[in-house]
Amino acid sequence: MKKESVATIAYDGKTVELPLITGTEGETGIDVTSLRSKAGWITFDPGFANTGACKSGITHIDGERGTLRYRGYPLEQLAERASFIETAMLLMFGDLPARDELAEFRGLLRDQELLHESLLKHLDGFPPLGQPMAILSAMINSLGSYYPELLTIRTDAEYRLAAAKIISKVRTIAAFSYRKAEGLPFMYPNPHMDYCRNFLHMMFSVPFRLYEPPAPIVRALSLFLIAHADHGLDTSGATVRMVGSSQANLFACISAAVCALWGRLHGGAGVGVMEMFEEVHGGRITAQGLIEEAKSGRRRLMGFGQRVYKNYDPRAILVRKAYEGLLTAGMARRDARFDIALDIEARALADDYFLERRLYPNVNYYSGLLLRAINIPVPMFPVMVAIGNMPGWIAHWHEEWKDAEMKIHRPRQVYTGRTQREYVPMDKR
Ligand code: ACO
Repeated sequence: MKKESVATIAYDGKTVELPLITGTEGETGIDVTSLRSKAGWITFDPGFANTGACKSGITHIDGERGTLRYRGYPLEQLAERASFIETAMLLMFGDLPARDELAEFRGLLRDQELLHESLLKHLDGFPPLGQPMAILSAMINSLGSYYPELLTIRTDAEYRLAAAKIISKVRTIAAFSYRKAEGLPFMYPNPHMDYCRNFLHMMFSVPFRLYEPPAPIVRALSLFLIAHADHGLDTSGATVRMVGSSQANLFACISAAVCALWGRLHGGAGVGVMEMFEEVHGGRITAQGLIEEAKSGRRRLMGFGQRVYKNYDPRAILVRKAYEGLLTAGMARRDARFDIALDIEARALADDYFLERRLYPNVNYYSGLLLRAINIPVPMFPVMVAIGNMPGWIAHWHEEWKDAEMKIHRPRQVYTGRTQREYVPMDKR
């Protein structure tokens, strides 16, 4: 049967034909851009659950099947065979790098790993227990002031340099903010170490006692970052495009994305998951008690549910396997919280409430266990997600910047407030 090329909406004596748009994976969208001018109507979609806001060639998610691909490559293949930096280059520049391209970009990252000494004074201004995500967001936004020549990006070379600065320096910022919180001296990046090893060195080395992370720990960190490298137009990815649509600079857009990620329904969920496991571990609630509270609506089962996946989140499978890999390699002690996680998951996945709503573990459910095994403290969890997500955010900013059809983002609203009324003088109120 021949497919229709237009969708028709009929209402209030009017019929409007709207063009269809189909993606390379067969997804069809109804192009409503002419709806208001043709009929005076707008669409209403709070939370944008059914709204496509752009065409994008970066990440494909099939929520029904539970698959995720970066630029066409399945997440599992990248996780098994690529490094985080290869994956980052794939996302940011469109293809897997050749050997010399990878070497050149690694060189750029190495050249950019230090922070301007004046920028360190910004870090000094935060209280010792300042929120790591507040610090990260503020520092990235401030970073732009140190590179005014990159506030407007005109060429691919400038884009490459700005991307390298952000990818490289966020790692230093994150590690330094942790050191400050711990009252430890900053460990400067080691130019002879690759991305993940260098981060672990800045986090955990102390003067005259260098931390040499075992290879499985480095690999586990790399897997974690790859799993978080992009997720399309999730809240933070969409934020990059929202802020970028006003032609705000790349640093400002990434800083905004960090703030969007912070919330407990998004990248901050990992903290909530760990708190939940702690509650059960400390005997304040049972696993079944948690399930019942979630079913009654009194709380959310943290790390469960996802807007797009109506199946197991493939990132959760990856992260759990990485954690189990550390256990098998003897690199982590079996954490009692892992058994609690398995118990809660088994109960949820046998319960009609979760089955009917198709609620499965999302990436945050097991990621805290993996991060704990690497020794990352709980307040740093969302920062780790942010480091992983940098390449995807940068890629979204760039794709939007290159998009000839890009318009400033400006959703409409259905106004439900008071209709016009007359000003009431102070003594009559
Ligand atoms: N626990 C209990 N019930 C849930 C959960 C949960 N974790 N998630 C969704 N539901 C229920 C809702 O109450 C709703 O039930 P109803 O139909 O009876 O009203 C139904 O499932 C649909 O939920 P929505 O809120 O409409 O789903 P939405 O797509 O808007 O929300 C979200 C997705 C925010 C992730 C949600 O599942 C949630 O709050 N999860 C817990 C927080 C979390 O883990 N967030 C991380 C997401 S992954 C990431 O951002 C990297």
